[in-house]
Amino acid sequence: MQSALNPNGVTITGTGFYVPTSLLTNLDLAASLDTSDEWISQRTGIRQRYIAETSTETSDLAVMAATDALHRAQLSPEDVDLIVVATSTPDYAFPSTAMLVKQKLGSRAPAFDLSAACSGFVYALSISSDLIKSGAYHNVLVIGADKFSKIMDWQDRNTAVLFGDGAGAVVLQSRPGASSSFSLLGSEERGADTLISPVTGPITMHGREVFKFGVRILESMLTKVMGELELSLEDIALIIPHQANVRIIEHAADKMNIPMDKFFMNIETYGNTSAASIPIALAEAVEQQRIQAGDIVVLAGFGAGLAWGVQVIQLG
Ligand code: UT7
Repeated sequence: MQSALNPNGVTITGTGFYVPTSLLTNLDLAASLDTSDEWISQRTGIRQRYIAETSTETSDLAVMAATDALHRAQLSPEDVDLIVVATSTPDYAFPSTAMLVKQKLGSRAPAFDLSAACSGFVYALSISSDLIKSGAYHNVLVIGADKFSKIMDWQDRNTAVLFGDGAGAVVLQSRPGASSSFSLLGSEERGADTLISPVTGPITMHGREVFKFGVRILESMLTKVMGELELSLEDIALIIPHQANVRIIEHAADKMNIPMDKFFMNIETYGNTSAASIPIALAEAVEQQRIQAGDIVVLAGFGAGLAWGVQVIQLG
């Protein structure tokens, strides 16, 4: 397995996450919307989510997650030589959210945003890994952060029950001799209008189409990546899928005959936090000691675009 991975070592040396303090339960939503706790939890697996204050921007969530990840990697902001923020809810059209994060952290690193919706974090990780492998950068801060509460139509029960706010971050470092990272990115020929939001919202979604895409693409990307790297299930410590709907993961797991405990799920607590969902789940899995240094993890993102991406990476 080791030899199937790229010889240029890239590892995750720190993970962190942050969610706002304001809790919104299914029961809270059912008080103002034609829905119920039972419907939401049975159809999605979500029981609650956290919502940011109006004055809290995506960059604020991102800085909190980044600070946590840097602390765990024992690095200071001056050590970071590139910052990439995956988001589709930037604070402004410009400067980028990454530039605001850089300023708030007190760093002089180049910084840019990447927009690929719920696949954004995997896209960002893939590009950042390749930049490290090229030798151009050594310590990259990769963040997934979204504040979907600002682009929600709170009267639309099709979408309002699904999303939450939050941010997750990793420190990605070159580690000669370590296993490297491997990614596959892709998109559908059609489907750009399946899940869509103008810059200021609101989101509209053809839920069933996204659901079917999620099941099909999750199965296909996991099959492809495991085939290309000749990875067996035993080689993989944990699969961390985008937290869109527990039923999407259950369907794909069932089709592939993979036990559900191979997948890390926390959608129950946070809802779908878009670009933040995978790095939040990764950081929580580390915190819960479900994974540790040396483990190989598979991160699988999918969503608006319709885009998808899968990343195999080792924890350092
Ligand atoms: O990151 C990617 C972001 N998007 C997604 O992940 C969405 C993927 N799709 C889904 O997760 C599911 O399609 C939903 C959770 C959005 C919907 O679940 P579903 O099982 O596909 O339900 P449905 O859209 O087929 O609707 C079934 C019924 C409908 O009522 P009728 O026509 O059967 O009377 C809906 O009007 O459920 C109704 N419904 C609701 N009822 C209570 C739709 N939303 C709600 C709601 N509460 N929040």
